[in-house]
Amino acid sequence: MQSYIVNGGERIEGSISSSGSKNSSLPILAATILNKGITKLKNVPNIHDTKIMFEIMELLGCKVECNKNEVIIDSRVINNYEIPDELMRQMRSSVILAGAILSRTKKAIFSYPGGCDIGARPIDLHIKAYKSLGIDIKEENGEILCDSLNMEDGTITLDFPSVGATENIILAATLSNKVVNIKNAAMEPEIVDLQNFINKLGGCVSGAGTNNIKIIGRNEIETNMEYEIMPDRIEIGTLLCSAAITNGNINIKNVKVEHILPVVYKLEEMGCSIKLKDNEINLMAKNKLKACNLKTMPHPGFPTDMQPILSSVLGIAKGTSIIVENIFENRYKYLSELKRMGAKATIEGKAAIIKGIKRYNPAKVEATDLRGGAALVLAALNAKGKTIISNIGYILRGYENLDEKLRKLGANIYVKEGEIIEKEKREWFRFLLFK
Ligand code: EPZ
Repeated sequence: MQSYIVNGGERIEGSISSSGSKNSSLPILAATILNKGITKLKNVPNIHDTKIMFEIMELLGCKVECNKNEVIIDSRVINNYEIPDELMRQMRSSVILAGAILSRTKKAIFSYPGGCDIGARPIDLHIKAYKSLGIDIKEENGEILCDSLNMEDGTITLDFPSVGATENIILAATLSNKVVNIKNAAMEPEIVDLQNFINKLGGCVSGAGTNNIKIIGRNEIETNMEYEIMPDRIEIGTLLCSAAITNGNINIKNVKVEHILPVVYKLEEMGCSIKLKDNEINLMAKNKLKACNLKTMPHPGFPTDMQPILSSVLGIAKGTSIIVENIFENRYKYLSELKRMGAKATIEGKAAIIKGIKRYNPAKVEATDLRGGAALVLAALNAKGKTIISNIGYILRGYENLDEKLRKLGANIYVKEGEIIEKEKREWFRFLLFK
């Protein structure tokens, strides 16, 4: 099991470019299946989750050629419409392929993705939307069998502006020859990126970025085209916070400033000075940061993915902060690890109360999930001394070369293979004693 070894206390200073968005790459990779041609995608992050996506797409019949951040997908032939259970379990967001497979082949078989580290992650809104569009859905032996041969025009009103459900409806409607409207749609920037991609491919989607989206389904799409994935707004927010938590000074290139504004406003409220240029952002954090309150909301509210990361910074701000997590029901697991580094935090239902400390203490901690793991990296950058963060596989799922980027910015962080922490040693000795 890989770990990060971080000798913290250094300022994060310098200039870096962001990578492509994980949460935009995944639905757009799925959308390439709509094309009976060859698609070239640029700025695709080289991370665990995109690699899983390539594996599933090849099982469906695609030929995928990956050269660093450029991916060429030949989806002229799709000869399978089943997403393997083990890959669904490895990456729950592969459910996003269902809509694309349905559009292309009119059938799709997949299993319930199952929960993950931050919540139950149901897909009831996806299924309810499909059924109301006349898509035939059967459940047998834990598998969901879909058939869209009798799909109809329709208007879906989502109970909750679910990002995945919005994306899955857009994908299922794109080659349906039907007209589908989505009300209370998610408004995240990743939905706009998906719309731009589908329209460049030859589809017809409008309204993304608002809560009303319209899809005029086509019969088929056959073209050769290329598209550049938008920058990763959560990685950018994470890098900004790495400078904030170390009283540093960072300049990030390849930024769509309008995507990151909710995070910028919070960091300014905490006392950071931020300059926005065309596609660059500069943050300086010379003084002691101030506590502030935080509520996660669907876009354009404060993004839930930044909650653990900004909370880590609030952990060393002056004063007490109240955080309310409104999107996922179990997104505070990282706090128990932060407390091992000295954080003063209590959880009351959806709220977490964090009383700022002077500085984190180095410790041996374990990543609990993707963004919770990133929160621990930031705390380790702040702590003077050696912190070991194990289970970093979670972090490698969603951040491209995070340690390399941070080293370029002055951090003393490196990956250690096979570092096991006390708990695992105890378990190993217990096994040896009683085997
Ligand atoms: C996407 O997940 C992102 N993942 C998440 O990022 C992000 O946190 C989330 O959107 C919200 O912005 C990808 O894009 C791959 P949702 P998604 O459907 O689509 C409930 C990260 O760290 N819900 O908007 O799964 C659900 O349980 C990840 O990069 C239902 O109840 O999010 C959650 O409480 C984490 N029924 C809320 O809605 C459904 O059918 C938001 O989920 C679907 C969702």
